[in-house]
Amino acid sequence: MGLTGPGEANVENRPAELGQTMHGATMLPGRVASVAAIEPLLRLDNISKDFPGVKALANVHFDLRRGEVHAVCGENGAGKSTLMKIVSGVYQPSSGTITYKGEERHFSSTRESEAAGIAIIHQELNLVPHLTVAENIYLAREPRRGFLGGSFLVDRKKLRADAKRCLDRLGVDINPDRPVRGLSVAQCQMVEIAKALSLDAEVLIMDEPTSSLTEQETGKLFKVIRDLKASGVGIVYISHRLDEMSEIVDRVTVLRDGRYISTDDFAATSIDAIVSKMVGRSLEEKFPERTSVPSDEVIFSAQGLSRAGVFRDISFTLRRGEILGFAGLMGAGRTEVARAIFGADPLDTGTVTLHGHTLSISSPRDAIAAGLAYLSEDRKAQGLAVKMTVDANMTLANMAAVSNRFGLIDFAKHARATKEYIDLLNIRTPSIKQPVRLLSGGNQQKIIIGKWLFRKSKLLFFDEPTRGIDVGAKLAIYRIMDELAANGIGVVLISSELPEILGMTDRVAVFHQGRITGVLETAKTDQEEIMRYASGYARSAG
Ligand SMILES: Nc1ncnc2c1ncn2[C@@H]1O[C@H](COP(=O)(O)OP(=O)(O)OP(=O)(O)O)[C@@H](O)[C@H]1O
Ligand SMILES: [Mg+2]
Repeated sequence: MGLTGPGEANVENRPAELGQTMHGATMLPGRVASVAAIEPLLRLDNISKDFPGVKALANVHFDLRRGEVHAVCGENGAGKSTLMKIVSGVYQPSSGTITYKGEERHFSSTRESEAAGIAIIHQELNLVPHLTVAENIYLAREPRRGFLGGSFLVDRKKLRADAKRCLDRLGVDINPDRPVRGLSVAQCQMVEIAKALSLDAEVLIMDEPTSSLTEQETGKLFKVIRDLKASGVGIVYISHRLDEMSEIVDRVTVLRDGRYISTDDFAATSIDAIVSKMVGRSLEEKFPERTSVPSDEVIFSAQGLSRAGVFRDISFTLRRGEILGFAGLMGAGRTEVARAIFGADPLDTGTVTLHGHTLSISSPRDAIAAGLAYLSEDRKAQGLAVKMTVDANMTLANMAAVSNRFGLIDFAKHARATKEYIDLLNIRTPSIKQPVRLLSGGNQQKIIIGKWLFRKSKLLFFDEPTRGIDVGAKLAIYRIMDELAANGIGVVLISSELPEILGMTDRVAVFHQGRITGVLETAKTDQEEIMRYASGYARSAG
């Protein structure tokens, strides 16, 4: 149709409701010139962004129409978040222009972009832990009911009611008066979404909104997205969960290494095609062929683990060469059990045995010394020292391996070890001395994985390891898990993604309300059966 190229609107495929916003287009009947009249809601031209040592974006184009969901795809570090931080005024572009509602704009802060009607849900959660949910949602925009002694009085009743309305719209049951501290990652994500919705924006940018949501929560979010779409809001959607995109996405733009690759109608392309554009080659497989073979030898066992009010009577074994899955709904107790085994939370009763030795663990330090590792699902809070450099983080859990016999750090060894894992996991960083907080979200996740691999543990709990990680790196992580298992290292995969459980594990322990309702052989089960156990409808004796 001759209308390709960035920044140009595609006349045939424009959403119907756009017609109302384009008075004037009809004056040019049958002419392609009507393209000019379909000025997109937002248009980015030739955007570049340089950080010290990193060219994060180079001449990127992007446009967003009213009433569409426009996905931005790319590998970890491709520049997706940076591009959207430029739109929302967090960063200034090194060059290029932003055209919003037909006018060239510069936003020097999020406050400015919000005032113009652009809201962003950031990939990293930014809530204030000691404030309540309602206070977080309306931070710095609290409804006021007067002025006293030089400051505003907050209308707490309205604050609470408004916050509740936003939460209800998402169908989440969180008390607006409770502090944010103590909420799960998924709940925090929902609060962030509620906060963005409360702005009633015309452009809504969602950077990995579903990375820690369950399928059900994602479904609720998608319903809200459809409503927003129908009311003409333009939505930018960034996600590594490509499968879920077909439900809501209208167009997709791919970035690779900070460069613009393509924009397509979602219906006219395929996930495979998107993936090849992202990685620059085609990816044949989603899961690697398993090379490790489970033996009869039990290397780890947990017997009768309980923690009052959290989980009860948890028993399972792990055999040499095996990958064991922990499946279940959010809050079923999977993470809690792993944390307790790792000594991060107390255990009331129960014993754990590793290679025939009963372990006595009362802190993560004990657990690490015994050879256990836990890759946490919450990287910010538990996995990383974000202000420290890449190399410091990588070796944090195993300083001994990079020290000489006097206990001093051997810097050459240190650098070699760090570089090895940067290559293995394809971590994008300008140098090993880069502070971790400056890496993209997915690359931060890879650092945590590298850190524990470097520790050479005997048993690893991978808690949602591929959250926010691009397809290529996912495959690399799966390969590593298989390799670990093949080398006799115990691997437990905690995952909410059933395809991942089915694709990678040998057996799966299904959790429901703090108990294991069944341990199933992966080859003989399917999603439906796992869901029956996860929702408590099925239960096996063992
Ligand atoms: N403030 C910063 N200082 C230096 N480098 C940065 C900064 N922010 C981002 N970068 C770098 O810019 C590049 C693009 O990062 P960005 O966060 O945009 O990636 P992304 O596509 O969102 O990746 P992910 O899928 O992992 O979230 C990366 O190489 C990242 O390390
Ligand atoms: Mg990002």
